[in-house]
Amino acid sequence: MSGSQTTTGKRARVIAVANQKGGVGKTTTVVNLAASLALDGKTVLLIDIDPQANATSGLGVPLQPGVSLYPVLTGTADVADIIQPTPYEGVNIIPSELDLAGAEIEIARMGDHLQAVRKVIVRVQESCVFDFILLDCPPSLGILMTSSLAAADGVLVPMQCEYYAMEGLSVITNLVKRLQSGGINPGLELQGILMTMFDGRTNLAGDVVKEVRAHFGESVYQTVIPRNVRISEAPSFGQPVVSFDPASRGAQAYRTFAQEFAAREHARVGSV
Ligand SMILES: Nc1ncnc2c1ncn2[C@@H]1O[C@H](COP(=O)(O)OP(=O)(O)OP(=O)(O)O)[C@@H](O)[C@H]1O
Ligand SMILES: [Mg+2]
Repeated sequence: MSGSQTTTGKRARVIAVANQKGGVGKTTTVVNLAASLALDGKTVLLIDIDPQANATSGLGVPLQPGVSLYPVLTGTADVADIIQPTPYEGVNIIPSELDLAGAEIEIARMGDHLQAVRKVIVRVQESCVFDFILLDCPPSLGILMTSSLAAADGVLVPMQCEYYAMEGLSVITNLVKRLQSGGINPGLELQGILMTMFDGRTNLAGDVVKEVRAHFGESVYQTVIPRNVRISEAPSFGQPVVSFDPASRGAQAYRTFAQEFAAREHARVGSV
């Protein structure tokens, strides 16, 4: 773990960023939330659960064979050896690698596969180093995503401001309810819904935000992330937009969102 961390003695809050729909802004949200929380003085561990490894490369961290959650889940590596520093002080990462795709099959063979990610996270929490553990989930309802939700305190659902977005949302809210009521993770909460890629030039985007707020009320964050070209350019430079172009509208929206996120967490648990 990076030497720049200070021990806070707190139990890290675990937030899974998830939506089974692809391309809604999960990874963009994870990397910018992690970087923004760190700029506000928090310590963050990002776990890249997605074999696409977009969060890993989006933070400029090289992909290395054998350095991912995969050997930790299968018991061949210790999590402390896998956590890597990033160019962003206060942000550490468990990178992903394409091999993580194979982990789905191996975890499925384990007896208590839904607890696989939780066991790793509990080990990390024992170190008392991090304020937040953020999980970037793949766009599927597979074992990696389900085990991530089974390990989380809260789920953050990014949602693109488009017409069919609401339909997909019930899939994940139902999964959350099943994990709660089935006893797998009774404490799991919907941390919030973040509207992304808002295009202020269309009436549709505004209508979608209104409809989602009418349904989900306070769960929807006040901050809405605009569609912004600097956000889409930043990953090819291996940077979150909050570092790539801090003055851009996209970066400012993510900084504001991170503050709203932290305030919501503070209201829930009081200690972060
Ligand atoms: N607010 C935004 N404005 C412009 N482009 C954006 C915005 N948010 C995300 N993008 C771009 O949209 C694409 C999808 O975003 P991202 O990778 O964050 O989604 P995802 O939900 O993680 O996708 P996947 O389901 O494949 O993991 C990326 O190319 C990203 O750069
Ligand atoms: Mg992604």
